[in-house]
Amino acid sequence: MVIQGGNRLEGMVPVSGSKNAALPIMAATLLSAGDCRLTNMPQLKDIQTMCKLLTELGAVVKFNSGEVVINTVGINKNNAPYELVKQMRASVLVLGPLLARFGEARVSLPGGCAIGSRPIDIHLEGLEAMGAEITLQEGDITARAKQLEGASINFDFPSVGATENLMMAATLARGETVLENAAREPEIIDLANALTMMGAKIEGAGTDSIKIRGVNTLSGLEHRIIPDRIETGTYLVAAAITEGKVEVVNTDPVLLQSVLKKLKQTGMEIKQFERAIRLTAKFPPQPVDIVTMPYPGFPTDMQAQFTALLSLASGTSTVRETIFEDRFMHALELERLGADIKIDGNFVTVHGTDSLEGAPVMATDLRASAALVLAGLAAEGITEIRRIYHLDRGYEKLQEKLGKLGAKLERKEAGEV
Ligand code: EPZ
Repeated sequence: MVIQGGNRLEGMVPVSGSKNAALPIMAATLLSAGDCRLTNMPQLKDIQTMCKLLTELGAVVKFNSGEVVINTVGINKNNAPYELVKQMRASVLVLGPLLARFGEARVSLPGGCAIGSRPIDIHLEGLEAMGAEITLQEGDITARAKQLEGASINFDFPSVGATENLMMAATLARGETVLENAAREPEIIDLANALTMMGAKIEGAGTDSIKIRGVNTLSGLEHRIIPDRIETGTYLVAAAITEGKVEVVNTDPVLLQSVLKKLKQTGMEIKQFERAIRLTAKFPPQPVDIVTMPYPGFPTDMQAQFTALLSLASGTSTVRETIFEDRFMHALELERLGADIKIDGNFVTVHGTDSLEGAPVMATDLRASAALVLAGLAAEGITEIRRIYHLDRGYEKLQEKLGKLGAKLERKEAGEV
């Protein structure tokens, strides 16, 4: 992506449905043989990968601009192959539902990735507590249980994926399952709402204690996916970093209060509406200190974008990443644009500078790519970002949406750049 920086962003931008809410809900369709109709679906690479995985398992998946209908009555396989798991770790979310419905599931063990080692031990320990027998063979995890049994499970860490996998598995288990120290992310609530519409009995989603009473079968559903809070936050930072004025619409301000609080602390003017947020930039941003935390704390998925913004602050900020062990790859690339960042393990000190200057940089993961785009929009001159394909996993029509706000950016084929 080639960005001509220095343009102030102005206007209105709609956000899409949440990728991280849509993926587990798509996996949850494996729990029922009825038609599952999901709307406000973002058109993204990761969503395509989940469609492909469900299709390979034998589901009928019909995707039609912003809407998907999934029917899993014809499921005839129970394994998620390495080819798909390595493309998208969220593939592991089919483990719980497949096991609960078919008594056996095989999922390739996800390896490390660009933001850390990311094991799935919490998912597996939970399934074992529900009576599953877990084995590892040829890089694949196999889980077996004729009938999962309700259990009381206390997570060492409120893992989003483990909470989702176990909540789904527990819907068809015998008896009651209690998940303690569960993740409280809005995507968990959205999944619980979808499961409830399918007939599941769930209480406490959105708190750290979730109770699920198993039922015998689940039906189809119709569900609208919640707005993407991370896409929302990314466009707000885009407005802030370009000294712009942008209204982000089709969103829900309630979902990103910690991000709005930090943006206000940087001096940005924020106005919240029922389904929109308007940011008017006040430059330069004031320095702030950020610590990423599980929801409702500051999201790790907004850390890279904020680091880009703070590189232009009027003083020194600090950012501590507590969720992933290796999520500062973007900091080194931001330095290439002139940012003054000192990295010390999972802690960075950002000394604000007056300006950034365009340069060739390399994207390493989804949110790092977003941070580089934001920095490129603010930098003087041309920024070329390579490996931009990461963006296709999580930002629907990014180029078009930013273009409408006045950004100058162009996507080129690898050989052209
Ligand atoms: C979800 O990942 C999101 N992905 C991530 O979105 C997000 O960054 C993350 O939650 C944290 O908010 C989806 O929802 C599809 P975790 P997930 O299990 O579920 C460790 C994006 O850019 N852990 O809460 O994988 C793990 O290694 C992304 O959209 C274990 O040790 O996150 C990590 O350090 C990337 N053992 C931490 O917990 C386990 O069994 C948080 O992981 C599970 C997790």
